[in-house]
Amino acid sequence: MDTTHLTKFYKKNHDDKIDSLFLAGVISKKEKDRLLDRTLELDPETGSHMIENYIGNYSMPLGVAMNYMIDKEELVVPMAIEEPSVIAASSFAAKIIGSAGGFKTTVIHRMMIGQVTLKNVPDIEEATNNVAEAKQKILSRANEAYPSIVKRGGGAKNLDVRLLEDDTDSGIPSYLSVHIHVDTQEAMGANIVNTMMEGIAPYIEELTGGTALLRILTNYATECLATSKCVIPAHKLKTQDFSGEEVRDRIIEATQVATIDPYRAVTHNKGIMNGVDAVVLASGNDWRAIEAGVHAYASRSGQYRSLTSWSKNEAGDLVGELTLPLPVGTVGGSISFHPAAKLAHSIMGHPKAHKLERVIVSVGLAQNFAAVRALVTEGIQKGHMGLHARSLAISAGAKGDHVQQVADILKHSKHKNLQRAKNILLNILEEFEK
Ligand code: MEV
Repeated sequence: MDTTHLTKFYKKNHDDKIDSLFLAGVISKKEKDRLLDRTLELDPETGSHMIENYIGNYSMPLGVAMNYMIDKEELVVPMAIEEPSVIAASSFAAKIIGSAGGFKTTVIHRMMIGQVTLKNVPDIEEATNNVAEAKQKILSRANEAYPSIVKRGGGAKNLDVRLLEDDTDSGIPSYLSVHIHVDTQEAMGANIVNTMMEGIAPYIEELTGGTALLRILTNYATECLATSKCVIPAHKLKTQDFSGEEVRDRIIEATQVATIDPYRAVTHNKGIMNGVDAVVLASGNDWRAIEAGVHAYASRSGQYRSLTSWSKNEAGDLVGELTLPLPVGTVGGSISFHPAAKLAHSIMGHPKAHKLERVIVSVGLAQNFAAVRALVTEGIQKGHMGLHARSLAISAGAKGDHVQQVADILKHSKHKNLQRAKNILLNILEEFEK
């Protein structure tokens, strides 16, 4: 990738942005033409095969975040998001972090988990022993239910048994849950795992004497964790009003608040998910699955807490770390036929699933850094309002150059609302007609 073509990307007009992505080697000529011809839309035939009662497409802006350096590799990151400030904040944070060496990532496991959950198990201890003894047979049967994943080098690899007990005092009986750990290779794997769970359920019933109530993948993917870390020298954090050390300490303090207060933690983590969801969505993955799993992971201590940690090292640098369960895939679902998802994978250089995880968790860390840094210094509204002003201008009916003109006046107005935007536009149009 030749990033010289991408400098001041945000200042280029639409066609030049696309051309510079092509010149930088991020997209092919064919992709450039598709973008210029605006043919990234789902066609009605594909849409109506994807869902029941299809009536049209719901469009979302697709953009690119710049300046990412992940494990020493420069990357342009596609993001599908409607919130105005997210991509700007992401690129800003990635630039600071990139200038300090970038993100360093690890992916610990890549196993999905399926559950066969049984009711009315007559003897829990005996059932648990029977399942443990039949482990290899259960795994073989799971693999027989989905042989193609075994051919691709994956398959059911391990199992454990969990007793689910009521801690609410509401008289819920105990259930037994057999967990199968499945290597789904490049797939997110819901179909693979669900097929396996349905395939082995009768055998598990035989072994336990219970009745299989649920046979499904869990989205709480605790065996599919990705971590990103960054180290930022304090001097890079300096703002007009605060020294770098002050900004560093305030980021650490803000994260402490999000660690002990669930009210703040939810908003703090929402900021992380601004980036995570945008890449998950652009890459054609199931963002509801990621959302559900991530928030459960944030509660793993028994209280909902910050997902990021920010601390300082001996040299006084700010050290950030984020770990997320990220069961994303690079094949299957809409990834192979949705034109925008295909483009997103191409922009990232067709990453393997573990690399996609590394990108997403790094974007989450960057997004959190940008949000918290702004919050503890100038506040979030200054940056937000600049971009929000453009949305208000568009809502007020501004077109072409008038969008920026209305936004510029609105930014300096006392009241930044739709009515004010409409009045400004009216004044501009009246001046224009004179
Ligand atoms: C807004 O979309 C996200 C933030 O609220 C995140 C945060 O408060 O950390 C700014």
